[in-house]
Amino acid sequence: MSPAVAPVRQLDAHCVDELRQAAQKILGEFGTSATSPVLLERVAERAGELGDALREHCRPVDTADGLFVLRGLPLDDEAIGPTPAGWANARDRGAVYDIALLLLATVMGNPLAWEGQQDGRFVHNIVPSPGHETAQTGASSSVLLSPHTEDAFHPGRAHLLMLGCMRNHDNIATTAAGIRKTRLADEDVDLLSRPVLPILPDDAYEVAQRFADQAPPPVPTLYASDEGMTMRFDPAYTPLDGADDDYRAAYHRLSEELARVSVAVSLSPGEVLVVDNDLVVHGRVPFQARYDGTDRWLKRASVRVPGRRTRPPAEAYEHGYGQAALEAHAS
Ligand SMILES: [Fe+2]
Repeated sequence: MSPAVAPVRQLDAHCVDELRQAAQKILGEFGTSATSPVLLERVAERAGELGDALREHCRPVDTADGLFVLRGLPLDDEAIGPTPAGWANARDRGAVYDIALLLLATVMGNPLAWEGQQDGRFVHNIVPSPGHETAQTGASSSVLLSPHTEDAFHPGRAHLLMLGCMRNHDNIATTAAGIRKTRLADEDVDLLSRPVLPILPDDAYEVAQRFADQAPPPVPTLYASDEGMTMRFDPAYTPLDGADDDYRAAYHRLSEELARVSVAVSLSPGEVLVVDNDLVVHGRVPFQARYDGTDRWLKRASVRVPGRRTRPPAEAYEHGYGQAALEAHAS
């Protein structure tokens, strides 16, 4: 694993002021960051008024790394209060950052939420949660969160994933590995471009029972889009036993390549990591949660980018296991 070499986009004081004022005004009006249609409408309105400099910082990912870090948002460790013990306790903690993230997400595309996740909120709190230490979800801590595409099981998954850092006293690294940094044999690319195995929903969702007896759709791991190679990868939820030896070997070589090119990004408070979810898989190194209010705390937002053609058209026919994606505004 290499140390962070993430491209940084530094926000200047003017951009920061503009964003902060817009976020505070919306929070003042609504008194909460819980997302309602009218709040999302106001966010879209205000986002439309943000200046060109901030807009430029929110331009698409433009390097093979497939990610960047927005730096410069101020964050007062005391003022944000202790790290909540689980997302359900977080409610409006750090609400102004929820809205700042939503504003940035809206400049980048359409914010995305899930009916079945964190009460349908558009900004999630990622904190270690007692009892979930070894799960393969953002609530875990003591295990390696293995590299994955966010919401890989679903055709409505995010194009961009934003992780905003509230607290990270122990410099716990987020890992990121980009498909365009890997080197794979043509035969492996060919094999992995075939729809062979499904990707099942992760533990953070309650799978709708009516899909329990339907055949899960097999999906390609790699896709050579007009914009370059993209990936849909979540080994923890991919039943590899269902593939033949050749496919499994190619999948294994892809995993090894991703491990080779993986970088460790240790976010500081106020930094926002933006990951292209079609190019990069992300994960997290293990850590020891203390549950004393000082644990790592991230905010997560997801974005759909209208008009992107980085995925196989056949995805549109997948059932998504009955999970409903909610987009802030129809594209
Ligand atoms: Fe994730």
